[in-house]
Amino acid sequence: MMPEIQIIPTQDELTAAAAALFLKIGRQAIQDRGRFSVALSGGSTPLPLYRRLAEPGLDSELDWSKIHFFWGDERAVGKEHPDSNFGQAYRALLAPRQIPPRQIHRVRGESQPADAARSYQQEILDFFPETPPRLDLVLLGMGSDGHTASLFPGTSVVRETGRPEESWVDAVHAPRLDSWRITFTPRLINAARRILFLVSGADKAETLYQVLKGPYQPRIFPSQLIGGKVTWLVDQEAGSLLKDL
Ligand code: 6PG
Repeated sequence: MMPEIQIIPTQDELTAAAAALFLKIGRQAIQDRGRFSVALSGGSTPLPLYRRLAEPGLDSELDWSKIHFFWGDERAVGKEHPDSNFGQAYRALLAPRQIPPRQIHRVRGESQPADAARSYQQEILDFFPETPPRLDLVLLGMGSDGHTASLFPGTSVVRETGRPEESWVDAVHAPRLDSWRITFTPRLINAARRILFLVSGADKAETLYQVLKGPYQPRIFPSQLIGGKVTWLVDQEAGSLLKDL
């Protein structure tokens, strides 16, 4: 399926478009299945979206008691650590919205990475009635090296894709960062009903072009592993080389 690509003039409009899509997908999921399961991403790009979603003006736009929050990836740190993806989303969105713990499914970043991955996979398998587990929405960002979630170029989780024993959640060591991450595998991301990439900034332009228009080289550009019903919301700077798409 060809991805949908929207190039949006400003960061502000990118946030507004992402919020509108989040609400629309959420309402539809609640109408169809009685709840909305969404995986959030880390990084700086989605922060304004999380803050926007916490605004009181959106109180009645969605039944917030029916959302279940997951994370597509997490750093190997405790929830209070400034690098925690959970912590960032908690402060910007979940705390202001007073989302109760039973709707929050975080990765235990404070555990040994392999244990954290195993228990998160189990939590996901317990939550979703179907196999593969199908989230309603997975939010993703893209690094300027082409990684997404914590699928980094050249790492095992990227190399091993397609093997039958592949898991849904994995622990991965990112050599460039010299740190461990826990991440959804491409298989779990691609099973989602909708996938939404948010990409902003001039430093992403060349990589974004390679990912979307270049040859298929997923070990170099792991974002190319992501397929399904994918929407890319891209600001003008990141999308500057895609003009003729
Ligand atoms: C993380 C991520 C990661 C992020 C990209 C883009 O934990 O860091 O989930 O995949 O989305 O690195 O990050 P920016 O939005 O900061 O560019």
